Amino acid sequence: MIKIAPSILSADFMHLGREVEDCFESGADYIHFDVMDGIFVPNISIGIPVLKSLRSYTMRILDVHLMIDRPIRYVESFCKAGADIVTVHVESDTRSNIKDTLNLIHACGKKTGLAIKPKTAPESIKDFVALVDMVLVMTVEPGFGGQKFMMDALDNIRGVHNIIYQNGSSSDIEVDGGIDLSTAKLALDAGANVLVSGSAFFKSEDKKDFVSHLKSL
Ligand code: DX5
Ligand code: ZN
Repeated sequence: MIKIAPSILSADFMHLGREVEDCFESGADYIHFDVMDGIFVPNISIGIPVLKSLRSYTMRILDVHLMIDRPIRYVESFCKAGADIVTVHVESDTRSNIKDTLNLIHACGKKTGLAIKPKTAPESIKDFVALVDMVLVMTVEPGFGGQKFMMDALDNIRGVHNIIYQNGSSSDIEVDGGIDLSTAKLALDAGANVLVSGSAFFKSEDKKDFVSHLKSL
């Protein structure tokens, strides 16, 4: 089943409550919550206090994408603040720490995600497949919304899909960056089943229509 995760990075933060309501009224499945630390990526976004507020506001699934250096230091705090899925980047720490980080997220009773940047080989997730509920394939360089979908990243989606299949895993494959109606189709055909959409979702005239269009691709 195709799931839709609007990224609130493109929301109007002055009216965040209403924007989140709009997301779920549109038929979206998750709220995608982008955390940036100014070190792992060249931008700073939102963090734990905002996540806590959202948690007290909705029971729906909060999909937290940590674009931060050595996330092992913060994953427990994000779990406690109300994340349902916590995704960390394979490039953000040593392999041994990444393994510990994923185990820590599971120990907190939450789902794990492992993200790869566009230039990272899909094989980098191999050792972790048994520990992940979702693989996030970035289709832009992480750090900013509103960028152009990188066609080369389609090979990464296919590569991740093969690795997951070969390991008998039922992990979801999420794509993030530059997703609109046409790039979504390409990502789905390559094996993705969870679509993050920031600017295209928030710019769409009719969000319900946009989501049902994506789900019917
Ligand atoms: C980029 C973020 C994305 C971003 C997607 O680093 O991880 O989630 O908000 O926004 P669009 O859909 O505009 O590329
Ligand atoms: Zn994201």
